Amino acid sequence: MSNLSILQDFPSDFTFGVATSSYQIEGNAYGNCGKSIWDDFAQRRLNGIDGKKACNHYSFFKEDIKLIKEAGFKAYRFSFAWPRLFPENDNQINQDGVDFYHRLLDEISSNDLEPFPTLYHWDLPIRFLEIGGWENRDTSKRFAEYANFISKSYGDLFKSVTTINEPWCISWLSHYLGEHAPGKKDLNAAVRSMHNILLAHGLSIDSLRSEHNHQIGIVLNNEFGEPIDHDEKNIQATSLFDAIYNRWFADAIFKGKYPQIALNVFEAFMPQDFQSDLKIISKSIDWIGINYYTRSVIKSKIMEDGINYDCHRGSLKTTDMGWEFYPQGISYFINRLHEEYNEKIPIYITENGMANNDEINSKGEIEDFDRIEYFQLHLQEILECINKGIPVKGYFAWSLLDNYEWSFGYDKRFGLIHMNYEDFSRKPKQSYKQFQKYL
Ligand code: FCB
Repeated sequence: MSNLSILQDFPSDFTFGVATSSYQIEGNAYGNCGKSIWDDFAQRRLNGIDGKKACNHYSFFKEDIKLIKEAGFKAYRFSFAWPRLFPENDNQINQDGVDFYHRLLDEISSNDLEPFPTLYHWDLPIRFLEIGGWENRDTSKRFAEYANFISKSYGDLFKSVTTINEPWCISWLSHYLGEHAPGKKDLNAAVRSMHNILLAHGLSIDSLRSEHNHQIGIVLNNEFGEPIDHDEKNIQATSLFDAIYNRWFADAIFKGKYPQIALNVFEAFMPQDFQSDLKIISKSIDWIGINYYTRSVIKSKIMEDGINYDCHRGSLKTTDMGWEFYPQGISYFINRLHEEYNEKIPIYITENGMANNDEINSKGEIEDFDRIEYFQLHLQEILECINKGIPVKGYFAWSLLDNYEWSFGYDKRFGLIHMNYEDFSRKPKQSYKQFQKYL
């Protein structure tokens, strides 16, 4: 049976932590938090299932930090909610929000955990819808001001900071595939936001550094693309998939350019003089985060807009999301980053984990053995990369708690800890206990 004894084989300075995000756990009904584009999307598209209460981490944060500590983790990755800090407009601060993150950071520090805050994990204040959200480059500039505020207010309380979580989800998934807020299906909107979200990252680098000597990183989600067969058409289609999903962001950040095969399709929608923005986007950063979950099987499909592929799932073992177990992908991307992008940059796995249909059994336990296996398989791949000399420095399990899984609402459970959404009681699963045992 799987266990996590592999944790003991990692170098002693390797950081193990857990990850969460504001909208998914805090509960925006509490503390005078403002609404985000997810509240709008939930109303329009998810039968109103939103993050109003979520895990009520706003009230239970002390218990949550204690659980992190007691498992033996050394770091906590969380995100600031922009609408909690600035619910109404960009200038009017919500003091309750400001105080909340002070309390949270104090609690993290008094438990000797290292904070890994993210500035943006998808809860864009709802007012930005009026100006087109990430389709408008003004949003990028306003993000840089918000980043500056965070650094000014809390910058002496954390070292590492993530600008943006998963630019692909914010742009392509939300503006082309329409599956996340704001739910558009429009290539033009997608391309603009793919550029503007990177610009937001680039502009925030200076605005953070002007306040503190931070360790700045960005978190990219990588998904492995596997052509369905050896047919040249499917191989070509996989190249475009990879260029849009993965390389678009890494090429811009590390090489200051966009992959040509994607540009060929996007050209008509690119802002004028995007090349000069790329100089800002590719400013040097201190570390890179990879979120990794699965692969996609790619088949060619000709569409009018020039997108020539379709994504499928294969026949490997799957999680409750229908995502296949494909641990080889994680080492593929670590190697690729190291070999093709930047040999020196410290790499963190900032998210990895699985949704499981967890139930409390008659003994009152949650036996999430598949999740333990999933972690074990991915950790094995990571360890091999470290043993080859690649500077992988940390691993964050997604997620501390079962939480609001975006367009899937509360049905998908990713937590090491089970959530009872009625009374907010938290119950560690076997996977939590495995981390605890071996950390
Ligand atoms: C990632 C997100 C995170 C969570 C996991 C399952 O794409 O960053 O918020 O939803 O997927």
